[in-house]
Amino acid sequence: MTEASGIRLDDVSRSFAGRGASVQALDHVSLDCPAGSFTAVIGPSGCGKSTMLRVALGLDAPDGGTVSVAGLTPSQAARAGITGVAFQDAALMPWRTVEANIALPLDVLDIARRDKADKIAGLIRLVGLAGFEKALPGELSGGMRQRVAIARSLVTDPRVLFLDEPFGALDQILRRQMNIELQRIWVESGATTLLVTHGIDEAVFLADRVVVMQSRPGRIGRIIDIPLQRPRRPDIFASAEFHRLEDEIAGALNGH
Ligand SMILES: Nc1ncnc2c1ncn2[C@@H]1O[C@H](COP(=O)(O)OP(=O)(O)OP(=O)(O)O)[C@@H](O)[C@H]1O
Ligand SMILES: [Mg+2]
Repeated sequence: MTEASGIRLDDVSRSFAGRGASVQALDHVSLDCPAGSFTAVIGPSGCGKSTMLRVALGLDAPDGGTVSVAGLTPSQAARAGITGVAFQDAALMPWRTVEANIALPLDVLDIARRDKADKIAGLIRLVGLAGFEKALPGELSGGMRQRVAIARSLVTDPRVLFLDEPFGALDQILRRQMNIELQRIWVESGATTLLVTHGIDEAVFLADRVVVMQSRPGRIGRIIDIPLQRPRRPDIFASAEFHRLEDEIAGALNGH
């Protein structure tokens, strides 16, 4: 993995003019995610987390500041298939089957891969949806739809992965399983990963560091390093050091 797959936000601001007062969703946010690192972003609802991801994906333009993804502009990186994304809502195409939804980035970006069928079958197994290849999104539960979105985010073998609360609709047990899977995927792929989550435990388990945001205006409050050894096994959730880190993040969320 070269240094070229890092994510860099430099003094990024984005405000929205609403019906009432305008909202400063991002207020001079700077963040440097080195190549291959895993960063979790946590913060109160409405603090600008999804806006940060949208800007980094080139889906929204900042009012000020610059963003680079793997040394490219966000839209160049997205067009090149360097970025993968799973949104907060699964955002599936309702008329496409599970396997066709997973294949969507390849179709949209016109990426031919000889192992396409194998890749998609492997991703379907990975997210536990074997047997649902031909199902339509309307026939799936919310958690299953989210798992399709996770599989889709990985189909281009992205070097940079953006995940916006991908496990929000999953029950606690499945969520833990997916956390463990995601750690494995991250280790194997070496993808620079930026995960937005409301789960403090998920952030501590997965991340090298946790970015705690504050709202109105959306800013980075603190960045907390997670020095837990890797690979992290499930029993780490119960360790004293894990709880100490959770408490530190909870404190930072409360402005301490
Ligand atoms: N397209 C838009 N038009 C107007 N306001 C917007 C738009 N997108 C975001 N906002 C505002 O920007 C702020 C940040 O929104 P954002 O979606 O980034 O929050 P978030 O941190 O992802 O919240 P959540 O945890 O609830 O998903 C909110 O106040 C929201 O109302
Ligand atoms: Mg959001």
